[in-house]
Amino acid sequence: MSDIKKIAVIDGDGIGPEVVAEAKKVLRKTEELFGYQFEIEHGLFGGIAIDEKGTPLPQETLEMCKNSDAVLLGAVGGPKWDNNSKELRPETGLLGIRKELGLFSNIRPAVVFDCLKEASTLKPEVLDGTDLIVVRELTGGIYFGEKFRRNTEFGEEAVDTCAYNVMEVERIVRQAFEIAKTRRKKLASVDKANVLESSRLWRETVNRLAPEYPDVELEHVLVDNCAMQLLRRPSSFDVIVTENMFGDILSDEAAMLTGSIGMLSSASLGEGSFGLYEPVHGSAPDIAGQGKANPIATILSVALMFKLSFGYQKAGDLIEKAVKNVLDYGHRTGDISTDQTNVLSTSQMGDQIIAAMKK
Ligand code: NAI
Ligand code: MG
Repeated sequence: MSDIKKIAVIDGDGIGPEVVAEAKKVLRKTEELFGYQFEIEHGLFGGIAIDEKGTPLPQETLEMCKNSDAVLLGAVGGPKWDNNSKELRPETGLLGIRKELGLFSNIRPAVVFDCLKEASTLKPEVLDGTDLIVVRELTGGIYFGEKFRRNTEFGEEAVDTCAYNVMEVERIVRQAFEIAKTRRKKLASVDKANVLESSRLWRETVNRLAPEYPDVELEHVLVDNCAMQLLRRPSSFDVIVTENMFGDILSDEAAMLTGSIGMLSSASLGEGSFGLYEPVHGSAPDIAGQGKANPIATILSVALMFKLSFGYQKAGDLIEKAVKNVLDYGHRTGDISTDQTNVLSTSQMGDQIIAAMKK
């Protein structure tokens, strides 16, 4: 098998290097188990790139990402750069990299692990079997629409506009249908078609594409209802696809079903199989350099990369199963443990997970 995958790895700041190191162990372990070959390159990005190169997103890092099959990113930012001007802030690099790589969707799984149900604020029986993915449109909608202020007889008025064209809706909806096909084959399209014109176009487009995916069961859900159903019957959802602002809110709501931020993975995708994979959490400066970070979010991001970018479904499943087994066995990092006297360090958790990876 000569199919070498190029992975651009960006450690970033704070706990970034610590969690990425554990994810790399998992990559190496899958090479051993499945005969895959990964060519890993490293690039500077975020605060460390500001310090060493004078910009959060150096050109050579961008080129490295563009020449790779996927990007694995730790996290960026920290108090050291908080008072910098906009061009010299790590977050500016994040927006820049997504734009430069043409990433138009953000994908966040919310999986409830049985043994961590007690960490959630919802009743265990409501959470049973919850395993869903929110697919959020990332480049359109009200966040990017025309915005301005004007004077009116009632005082100053501020205007934000929400616009979507058919191309923008089609490409993300197709992606969501494709993801649903690899899972439980259910798609919930979330909109506000009872009041918003952009939502009516969204729904028309979804309905026009649906016949191309006859094996996927489609439901339309109004966004306010979806917010309720996520708390009432989360396990009934498989894939949820929605526009930018609704997705921003619903993905955070879905994340809270699962317990700790240290467990949540994410992907940002564009056309084709290329994607950027990263934990949902930030650089956690409060625990950086102490070996306390939970590496599971980053390790599960690798599983997502395997499934969404490489078509390595079995290896992705194996990683997820190893994480589940390690948690079922009782291993915990501090963020997911009730007993702080008996917790694993970042690298110990990584070691347990690779030890649990068996075919
Ligand atoms: P954060 O996610 O870094 O931390 C929030 C809390 O969760 C902290 O108490 C932290 O210790 C804990 N935490 C986060 N990840 C953890 C892990 N893997 N294991 C155990 N505990 C974990 O968010 P915060 O504090 O708002 O931001 C810190 C910095 O990170 C800021 O500079 C922010 O701009 C940046 N950030 C970067 C992101 C990215 O790179 N995509 C996303 C969010 C924030
Ligand atoms: Mg948000």
